[in-house]
This record gives sequence, C-alpha cells and structure tokens, in this order.
Amino acid sequence: MSIRDRFPILQKKVYLNSCSQGALSIDVRQAYEAYLRDWDEKGSPWEVWVERGEAARQAFAGLVNAEPDEVAVCTSVSAGVSALASALDFSGERNKVVISDFEFPTIGQIWHAQEKRGAKVVHVPAAGNIIPTERFAEAIDERTKIVSITHICYRNGSRLDVPAIIELAHQKGALVLLDSYQALGTFQIDVKTLNVDFLAGGTLKYLLASSGLAYLYVRQNLIPTLQPTSLGWFSQANIFAMDSYANTPSPTARRFEAGSPPVPNIYAGVAGINLIQSIGLGKIEVHLRDITGAIKEGAMQRGFTLVSPVDPARHGALITLRSHDVTQLVKRLEEDGIITSSRDDNLRISPHIYNNLADVDRLLDCLTKHRELLV
Ligand SMILES: Cc1ncc(COP(=O)(O)O)c(C=O)c1O
Repeated sequence: MSIRDRFPILQKKVYLNSCSQGALSIDVRQAYEAYLRDWDEKGSPWEVWVERGEAARQAFAGLVNAEPDEVAVCTSVSAGVSALASALDFSGERNKVVISDFEFPTIGQIWHAQEKRGAKVVHVPAAGNIIPTERFAEAIDERTKIVSITHICYRNGSRLDVPAIIELAHQKGALVLLDSYQALGTFQIDVKTLNVDFLAGGTLKYLLASSGLAYLYVRQNLIPTLQPTSLGWFSQANIFAMDSYANTPSPTARRFEAGSPPVPNIYAGVAGINLIQSIGLGKIEVHLRDITGAIKEGAMQRGFTLVSPVDPARHGALITLRSHDVTQLVKRLEEDGIITSSRDDNLRISPHIYNNLADVDRLLDCLTKHRELLV
C-alpha cells in the first residue's frame, strides 16, 4: 500500500495542515480500535495499558536517541514543562529565564508563572522572520538558569540555529529546553548530538497521532538533581505503593509525570511514531525539502509574500504567506477542498510525507484564484 493510501482523507482533500493536526492514517485508526477491543474483551487490563505506556516511552526514546528512563510520558507539553519548571530553583543569583519571541504561548506563560518564585523572564526579540543568534548571545549570561527555545516557530515556520544557541547557553552554565513540537516527525532529532538538556514535544502534529500525549526528555545526569512539585501518583518510585504519607519520586524521568496515563492516546501515539519510523525520517526530510521548495518557488514566482525564510536550513515543514484577510483565505481554500490554517496574518501551509507536487499545484492554482487576499 502506498503512503498516500494509508490516509483516507487524501482521497477527498488536499491536506496541508499538519502543523496543526496530522492526517488520520489507517494505522492510527486501527490503534484506537485495538484500544476499544482490549477494553471490551479484557475489562480493565491495566497491565496491558501500563505496558503500552512503556511502549510509548520507548517509541519516543527511539525517535530522539534518548534512553527510555530519560523520557516522561505526559498528557501535554504544557504538563511536562510545568513539572520541569516546578523543579527549578529561582531563589538564588541564577534566576534568569531566556526565551525566544517565537515560543508557543504555553511556554511563555509557564515561565512567567515562575516570576512568583523569583524567576526573571527575558524575551529575545525577533528581527522580522528570524531571530539572529547574536541576540541570544546578548541575552544569555552567568545569571541565566535556563534558555527556552522553540525548534520551529508555529507562527511563521522559522527555524532557530538550535546547536549554536545550545552552545552559547552551555558556555554560560545555563540549561536548555527545546520545544520540538513543530519539528518532531519532519527530520532526525538526536538529543545526544544536540547535547540538549530537556526536549518537549507531542504526537498531535507531524507524529501523526492525536492530542493528549506528549513527552519530556530530561538528560540522565540532571534527573536526580530535579524534584518537581507538580506531580502525581504516576511520578512515584513505586506507583502502586499507594503511600499518602510521603513523596518518593521515581529515580527516572517518570518523576515528571502526574496522574493516570492517557491510554487511548498512547495506543494512537505508538502507532503514529511507528509509522513515521517505518517510512524513515531521512526520506521524510528530503521529501519535505522538495515539497516546501516547490511551494516557496511557486509562491515567489506569482509575487506572493513569503513570511518564512527562503533558506531551507532556516525553516521547517511549515511555510507561511502574508495575507490581507487570512480568515477569508483559509475559508476560500477550504471551499476548494484545500485544508490550511492561519496565525497572525499568515497563511500556514504545512505539508508532510503524504503530500505530492500535484497538491502543490492545486494549492498554487487556488491561491492565484484568490490573489486579491494575498499581499
Ligand atoms: C511549538 C508548540 N509547542 C507547544 C504546543 C502546545 O502543546 P500542548 O498543547 O501539548 O501543551 C504547540 C501546539 O500547537 C506547539 O505548536
């Protein structure tokens, strides 16, 4: 079966909204059906469900080259990052949090919430559609506790120079949290090569599953130094000790987890990651470079305003175009069977391995038809 055949929606729509939600594959549908079957046939198979949670941990660890013990299985990036933030001490000299202006709101909100605990949040401003790495160099200093950056900006598709920023942070003794939600599933990410301290992401978008499942990677040697205060019984060393007289965190990254795991989403998430792995991230990256290249070229030839950087090394799978009335534009495209989305005044076009050049042609024809809505 071809990759496109695995995604029934493609028979009816040109689907270009993977930055928001990956398309539903028959594999993920079958995973949900397996969850319902297990529930129906076995009643309350908690052993199976806990085992599935471990399979999810391993699947994510394999995806980013981490050890399973370095991975917390969470219900959202927000939950994982909140647990991490709760474990950091902002009472001393090193209380600065440096974040980029490309962050998803949840990240900024969580760090600003730490101001009550002594944190000082500094935003690194954008210069148009990029944030020059020198701006991070100016912001990061000996008082910086953590640098919190997004891999790919959800608003405009811009890609930060992540290795350089990690290097700058480590030179000053600061930790780094990388939000890879908009990158996971589109190219190879290796936490060891990146030398990143924490990495967060979920399965909703390019990992082809649904909401309600996310991950937090925590570098092995940091785990024992961090004691979250945002937690729950699944974060304990022995989940089934049922001890309400003590908090005994797991020695692994599981200490960043909270309550009952999102079992249905775990079935789906494992299927999504396995599908990505079976296709291969190398192949996906090359394909996305071709497809995003064709979108950029076609848009520029027609005189549309590209918001994402032109250099393929500086953007992700998300390409954005400026619009006068983006709500109208998304609606018009939808009427023509093309699914996209928007943020700010930007039309977000986010292809995946299942899109082809015929999809790009249909998109460009439709954009040409509605060119009065484009800048
Ligand atoms: C880059 C990025 N980070 C975080 C989030 C939100 O994650 P969650 O809803 O799992 O907290 C999103 C969702 O769109 C995102 O694009």
